[in-house]
Amino acid sequence: MVVLFTRWLVSVPFMRDFLATYPGEYELPEGAPIGFPAWLNWQHFLNVFLLVLIIRSGLEVRFQKRPNAFWTPRWNKERKISLAVWFHQSIDVLWLVNGVIFVFLLFVSGQWMRIVPTSWEVFPNALSAVLQYLSLDWPIENGWVNYNSIQQLTYFLVVFVASPLAAATGVRMSGIWPTNAQRLNVLYPIEWARAVHFPTMVFFVLFIAVHVTLVIATGALRNLNHMYAAQGSTDPLALAENWTGFWIFSASLLLIVAAWVAARPLLLAPIARLFGSVSSR
Ligand code: HEM
Ligand code: HEM
Repeated sequence: MVVLFTRWLVSVPFMRDFLATYPGEYELPEGAPIGFPAWLNWQHFLNVFLLVLIIRSGLEVRFQKRPNAFWTPRWNKERKISLAVWFHQSIDVLWLVNGVIFVFLLFVSGQWMRIVPTSWEVFPNALSAVLQYLSLDWPIENGWVNYNSIQQLTYFLVVFVASPLAAATGVRMSGIWPTNAQRLNVLYPIEWARAVHFPTMVFFVLFIAVHVTLVIATGALRNLNHMYAAQGSTDPLALAENWTGFWIFSASLLLIVAAWVAARPLLLAPIARLFGSVSSR
């Protein structure tokens, strides 16, 4: 139904003109880099790896009825949190460090121009790209050179809105927040943080589902070469048969699965003990 409707819609002369004027992407500013450097591949992988563990531990925090292990920091014997919250927060620190390095390198390398909109044309082009996706008549594009506008907007949202939001609300609920700063706590009540933190996770999970589906559906081998092997070409068909990125991606999935399985109290407790004490009550 939706497909048929959008197919009809894009065939109306007015809409045909619109799609011709706004093909789904606009030109990057002068001097924008072409292709992905290896550091961007690394940062992307580390981000995925850490985020999977963050979501795993976050869900555990939410749905665990009675935690079976607790952690008390060495520097504050009064405080006690579940081992799941400890793990969640420890991975958060690594994820934030990775994110700050990523954003810093984006700006010094010029790579930011690919994921930060630089023209108002991003909006009509994003609409155009969405219509093309819905009509299953997909835009021919090459992420090695430029993203389409809906990609650009979503990546921008993930890096510059959702991630800072997760951090700002997470920090509010964490032990490093100054609990006796009364004015601050009135201005930013913990209930707000609680109400926003979980929906932020839902957004991340939805993003990942759509993102990975589209990566696979729009030229899996080529896209994986871009993001896992730093290989690509201005010719979108040049690396269509090359499996290098796919194998690196597969190895990275094994690592993620291994970490998922390993992240259980038996293995986490010895690490947590390096920074405090672990107890069963
Ligand atoms: C196994 C999971 C994932 C795979 C296979 C994957 C794959 C890719 C690929 C192939 C690209 C480049 C797209 C292109 O060349 O057209 C890309 C870009 C990107 N991905 Fe992922 N991705 C995954 C998970 C994630 C996650 C969890 C996030 C963040 C929540 C994420 C955020 C991004 C961002 C922000 C970009 C744009 C980066 C830039 O150009 O600076 N990805 N991803
Ligand atoms: C710097 C980043 C982050 C910090 C400091 C942080 C901190 C926290 C803290 C302290 C809690 C425990 C709240 C409690 O005791 O009830 C929590 C819960 C949670 N976190 Fe995070 N977090 C961060 C990022 C994330 C991200 C990126 C996600 C998912 C994508 C996430 C998902 C969750 C979930 C699902 C919960 C359970 C929430 C609930 O019970 O409603 N967190 N986080």
